[in-house]
Amino acid sequence: MKYANLTGWGFYVPERIVPNKELEKYMDTSDEWIQERSGIKERRFFEPGKDTVSTMAFEASKKAIEKAGIAAEEIDMIVMATLSSEYFFPGPGVLLERLLGLKDIPAFDIRQQCSGFIYGLSLAEQYIKTGTYKTILLVGSEIQSGILEMSTRGRDLAVLFGDGAGAVILQAGDSPGILSTHIHSDGEHAEALFMRHPGSVNPDFITTEMINDGELLPYMNGKLVFKTAVQKFPEVIIEGLEHNGLKTEDIDLFIPHQANARITEFVRQKLGLAKEKTVSNIHKYGNTTAATIPIALAESMDAGLLKKGDLLCLAAFGSGFTWGSAFIRI
Ligand code: UT7
Repeated sequence: MKYANLTGWGFYVPERIVPNKELEKYMDTSDEWIQERSGIKERRFFEPGKDTVSTMAFEASKKAIEKAGIAAEEIDMIVMATLSSEYFFPGPGVLLERLLGLKDIPAFDIRQQCSGFIYGLSLAEQYIKTGTYKTILLVGSEIQSGILEMSTRGRDLAVLFGDGAGAVILQAGDSPGILSTHIHSDGEHAEALFMRHPGSVNPDFITTEMINDGELLPYMNGKLVFKTAVQKFPEVIIEGLEHNGLKTEDIDLFIPHQANARITEFVRQKLGLAKEKTVSNIHKYGNTTAATIPIALAESMDAGLLKKGDLLCLAAFGSGFTWGSAFIRI
């Protein structure tokens, strides 16, 4: 059996930095409220005409390909995680394939929101383990600022989310690699964090009333999401530790999905993980959904926070609800 090894990584964030102070101009909020409730100081917003979900994915992918020391032509499959595809269909996997100058390889689009990267990792792992493919490009890329409303009506979500992309190259090897991935979902609260329109429940698809009534905005029951996240994160991490016969102390670096610094801190304390082993970059980028983990992973690798043989733990929770963890030997 082959293992999936992490051989390349890269990230791209748009140039435009939007500090909390700027949001104060558009809505009734404050730098103090945002920092205290979420830990976010600033985020990046895409540049219309320059950045798209697939061009940002392309920038991150180029870095990952270069780091892996491979040619793009060696990629056997693309897995693209996003909730913010540039078109309603097709998804951006094929657009990324086109930008990379590739043809005929499979390109998946994963719609598991904040857990998208871990779901993608799990999918890629299976193809490598079974020997079907040798080299897989996995990307998370999001442009979310376009679906947020920069007004007091939209503030619940507008202050939390940002844009960015992260990519990894996974390659078949004889030693670990990905040790295991653990993915879950529960549709009971599908509408606790969702965007109803445009969707097929409405016979007219999109109407001017929807736009005027603010129905084309995402909705989140923040308290329920928070409460469930702090329960599911530790659960799915412990599941992975037990599966591999490992203990919390064996984790060298923990990269959680960055939804809220308070969630990360709660999970860290619950697991008894050291602060210096827990990655937090939410202050710089906000919540970039499927791009969050690969951005933090690429930053951590570039900063030398992980060395050969280290144990990396990834975990995410988000809309669906979906959640998951992954254990990777670097
Ligand atoms: O990645 C996907 C998963 N997402 C998450 O995991 C997010 C989970 N939830 C959270 O992170 C938190 O629930 C939030 C950061 C969204 C909100 O924090 P909270 O401590 O749960 O605040 P709250 O929703 O209870 O709001 C407290 C107050 C309310 O006012 P009242 O009712 O106490 O008068 C809100 O209206 O803060 C008000 N508020 C705001 N004030 C200033 C809500 N949004 C804002 C805002 N600026 N942007």
